[in-house]
Amino acid sequence: MMMYQYFRCLLVVAASLVVVLQVQTVQAILPPPVVQCNQTGAGGCTLYNSYGAWNDRSDCRVPTVVYPTTEEELRSAVANASKNKIKIKVVSRFSHTIPKLACPGSSKKPAMLVSTSKYNSTIEIDVVGLTVTVDSGVSMRQLIDRVEEANLSLVAAPYWEGVSVGGLISTGAHGSSWWGKGGAVHDHVIGLSLIVPAKQNEGFAKIIRIQSPDPLLDAAKVSLGVLGVISKVKLSLEPGFKRSVTYNFTDDGEIEDVFMDHAKKYEFGDITWYPSRHTAVYRYDNRVPLDTPETAMENARNVNGKCLMASSFVGFKKLVANGLKNGLTFTGYPVVGRQGKMQTSGSCLYSTSSLSSCAWDPRINGLFFYESTAIFPAKKFGDFIKDVKKLRDLIKPENFCGVDIYNGFLIRFIKASKAYMGQSEDSTVVDFNYYRASDASTPRLNQDVWEEVEQMAFFKHGAKPHWAKNRNLAFLNVQSKYPNFNKFLDVKKKLDPQEMFSSEWSDEILFGKEEKYNKGDGCALEGLCVCSEDRHCSPSKGYFCKPGLVYSEARVCRSSGSSML
Ligand SMILES: Cc1cc2nc3c(=O)[nH]c(=O)nc-3n(C[C@H](O)[C@H](O)[C@H](O)COP(=O)(O)OP(=O)(O)OC[C@H]3O[C@@H](n4cnc5c(N)ncnc54)[C@H](O)[C@@H]3O)c2cc1C
Ligand SMILES: *[C@@H]1O[C@H](CO)[C@@H](O)[C@H](O)[C@H]1NC(C)=O
Ligand SMILES: *[C@@H]1O[C@H](CO)[C@@H](O)[C@H](O)[C@H]1NC(C)=O
Ligand SMILES: *[C@@H]1O[C@H](CO)[C@@H](O)[C@H](O)[C@H]1NC(C)=O
Ligand SMILES: *[C@@H]1O[C@H](CO)[C@@H](O)[C@H](O)[C@H]1NC(C)=O
Ligand SMILES: *[C@@H]1O[C@H](CO)[C@@H](O)[C@H](O)[C@H]1NC(C)=O
Repeated sequence: MMMYQYFRCLLVVAASLVVVLQVQTVQAILPPPVVQCNQTGAGGCTLYNSYGAWNDRSDCRVPTVVYPTTEEELRSAVANASKNKIKIKVVSRFSHTIPKLACPGSSKKPAMLVSTSKYNSTIEIDVVGLTVTVDSGVSMRQLIDRVEEANLSLVAAPYWEGVSVGGLISTGAHGSSWWGKGGAVHDHVIGLSLIVPAKQNEGFAKIIRIQSPDPLLDAAKVSLGVLGVISKVKLSLEPGFKRSVTYNFTDDGEIEDVFMDHAKKYEFGDITWYPSRHTAVYRYDNRVPLDTPETAMENARNVNGKCLMASSFVGFKKLVANGLKNGLTFTGYPVVGRQGKMQTSGSCLYSTSSLSSCAWDPRINGLFFYESTAIFPAKKFGDFIKDVKKLRDLIKPENFCGVDIYNGFLIRFIKASKAYMGQSEDSTVVDFNYYRASDASTPRLNQDVWEEVEQMAFFKHGAKPHWAKNRNLAFLNVQSKYPNFNKFLDVKKKLDPQEMFSSEWSDEILFGKEEKYNKGDGCALEGLCVCSEDRHCSPSKGYFCKPGLVYSEARVCRSSGSSML
């Protein structure tokens, strides 16, 4: 039996290697535009996210989409919506956010979508003042390249470059750091221009310029798109630097005891944990002076193909796959490179070579997964790790192999922030991805294990959901987890009294209430509810609602045929 289970795990690994190979050989295809309009007839437009479908019941249909290129055009779009009292939302060129935050409403009512995909012309660097001011539609990669050309560096960035500056700060996107201003990009924001509705005699919309230390900035820098349209963002920079990275693949025995020291010792440290393999990968990552030679970049390529600098999502997956294939023998050596190369990646988005396109591109049929991101107050994180270990030790470790193949648990650090919708204390963030059957009603491998981990994180240990990730159930009671939530709502009421920038979809995230989904059949499989009856799972396929194994308050969909214990 053990043999069989192990074999199954290997099979899944093998399947994932096949996916990796496929991803490397498909012809490069640029991602399809996220807004697609029906040219024939008055069909209007449909907003997708980069993963293709929204993870729920209905498409996001929008009658009107505008593509401003200047700040004044942005302002007049808001004025038009304000004058006509219609819902309005912003979406970036890539629309990478998993929750349906950017959807302005249902197809029945008039609504307007403002795309920032053509609002990306200005990147102004102040070399003396060490700042950069950008249009909100500028992509992370464009920004980083320009900043590095000036021999300066932006210290924080998410690990993925295919995002817009406006979108990423709006959802609190982060890299990993407890040092300096910390790993969240919004904590490097020192000014911001916001376009909000206004009275008729002010032209129906106005631009407010917010500068640090105005407390309004604490509301506006992580605003989930519900305060207004962000037009300009001013970020602080530092003199250019390089980073030196080493990965240490080692035993996972001490994670809960050492993660804080790790964060304190390494400016950009992170940890990837593969529970079923009892393995932790500590990323030792500190800055080094600009004149440090870029030693290992090329060697690195030779060892592991282009995925060695595997901080990216796909790259990481490939590294893991290769690592597994070689018996996890990859051991570190310092890889030194410019900050702009080391902090973020994502060439699959733009690639015109035949090498890559993004693995999650819906047309590749490669990965189809859920992505959960739970943010813990650092002092509570150790207990979560211990609980996951308990669960792993109780079940067959092979039941964790699904997540290990995708990315393992990626553990990162966010420093305390004054942003109302940011983290009010030093925090530890964990991302985990798991397989989602493309047919919503088909239960996925080890469904129950993932549901229990998810519920342990968000309900037992009080983790907060990342605003740009997660299934809806993670947002239940989210407002009680943010001490400044009401301050944020006060600002929202003041800036947008008509609630033009709110929709039923963003309300669903902001005020997460389970009743909204009516707890339909199969709702727990899609993460729309926590099951309380078997029909919320998939009784016809043998999945029933059962208590968790370690967290007994959890309610998960478990296969009657599974031999968990
Ligand atoms: C492969 C991958 C890896 C990722 N890695 C990380 C990571 O390492 N760390 C991390 O924190 N996140 C990560 N993310 C999540 C990503 O940072 C967020 O999804 C980010 O919000 C996406 O930005 P976007 O430009 O696509 O925003 P969108 O999805 O277009 O918009 C996000 C929200 O912001 C609003 N918005 C956008 N622009 C404006 C504007 N100008 N004014 C007002 N509101 C606006 C939208 O209405 C929406 O509510 C990753 C995502 C992917 C797909
Ligand atoms: C476009 O609209 C027409 C008329 O409303 C409809 O028949 C057609 O199916 C639509 N096409 C798409 C791709 O949605
Ligand atoms: C104003 O909005 C309406 C519909 O929402 C649209 O038809 C019209 O073209 C817009 N006008 C301008 C000047 O953007
Ligand atoms: C703006 O985006 C376009 C692609 O949509 C790109 O070609 C152009 O280089 C971008 N401009 C800047 C300043 O980054
Ligand atoms: C950046 O530094 C390099 C190396 O010192 C130098 O050659 C280049 O001129 C600098 N660029 C700018 C814009 O200062
Ligand atoms: C890797 O981590 C282990 C456990 O913390 C430690 O004993 C070992 O010295 C580390 N190896 C390197 C090369 O730093």
